[in-house]
Amino acid sequence: MAYFKIFRRMDYPLNPVIYLKIIFGLLYVRWSHIRRSSRLRFSPPNLVLLLTSRCNKDCAFCHYEGELNPDQWQKDEMNLSQFTQILEASSAPKVGRICFYGGEPLMNRDLFLMLAEAKKRKFFTSIITNGLMIEKYYRELQQAPLDLMTLSYYPEDLEKIERGLPLLGNSTVINLSFIVSQNRIKQLDEVFAFAEKHSIAMVTIENIRENQASNEKTLYREDLNLKELKDKYQSRYGKNILIRWSDFNSKPKSAAKIQCPDFWDTVLVNNKGQTSPCCQYPLGDYSGDLTQTNLSINSSELVELRENMRQNIIPPKCQGCHYLYAKDPLYS
Ligand SMILES: C[S@@+](CC[C@H](N)C(=O)[O-])C[C@H]1O[C@@H](n2cnc3c(N)ncnc32)[C@H](O)[C@@H]1O
Ligand code: SF4
Repeated sequence: MAYFKIFRRMDYPLNPVIYLKIIFGLLYVRWSHIRRSSRLRFSPPNLVLLLTSRCNKDCAFCHYEGELNPDQWQKDEMNLSQFTQILEASSAPKVGRICFYGGEPLMNRDLFLMLAEAKKRKFFTSIITNGLMIEKYYRELQQAPLDLMTLSYYPEDLEKIERGLPLLGNSTVINLSFIVSQNRIKQLDEVFAFAEKHSIAMVTIENIRENQASNEKTLYREDLNLKELKDKYQSRYGKNILIRWSDFNSKPKSAAKIQCPDFWDTVLVNNKGQTSPCCQYPLGDYSGDLTQTNLSINSSELVELRENMRQNIIPPKCQGCHYLYAKDPLYS
């Protein structure tokens, strides 16, 4: 019901053929994941585009810590023509969601042109942003055909975000994203109070993936009564806010089955048409060319990774990831 309410607020153009194609795509991806098929026949209806390697923040916990803002950042900026070339590629999805990602996607000069093009092609459009540039671009954002903004909650920026958010009005649905860790657990009260204050439609709570640069530690399910915590926020805020909780990590057990659906359900592409199996893998790992071959959804790397998952072998770059043994809230 909550998803339906959000969908209505998005004012998504009703086109039964597109809906049917998306539903078919999602069911196909789900089925392929359950069967652990190593090859896909169709592209998943979910395209994530790395628009830039620039960012106006420098978070120590970031997946891309040490890789952002390279001297040659121009080489990584996606432009409109690269974007349309990617959409034309035979292994790029033709329906579903396009997510504009980075770095900080609002730093990309062609973002609003790409948004318009994506909407022209009837995609559902979303961005993930730290929100620092909402105040600067609120007019463009109001007019942009943007269906969903995932706004990361960073407490050090709230003053600036609170100036920008009211300027947006009701033009886009906001999903407030909070990455929880051992030392951030106490911030949950503030996160929900912020969401309520700004009539935010959706809150997503995910677990941090530890990296070498930050001292933030993943929250293990055994360390706290997660159900109690979830129930508390659900009963207090669940009537007005759709709360999506990622299941927290459990300590790896050798017999546990790997759950992550990412190698089946997402196509991740950068401006050169190179692909990556997962948004948490280093930026330097993008390879291949989606625009040159219709096999890129079945690249040798992806086929091997899917095969590993089938055999319950953790790929080395997935060690410590919060989705290994936990369910993505989208599928729960
Ligand atoms: C890489 S950022 C890019 C978009 C934008 N700059 C932002 O921060 O929202 C995308 C999302 O990944 C999350 N993220 C970054 N590093 C993470 C980590 N180590 N573990 C879990 N999530 C992380 C961020 O909080 C953000 O919600
Ligand atoms: S998490 Fe987002 S805002 Fe922070 S450094 Fe990474 S890309 Fe930038």
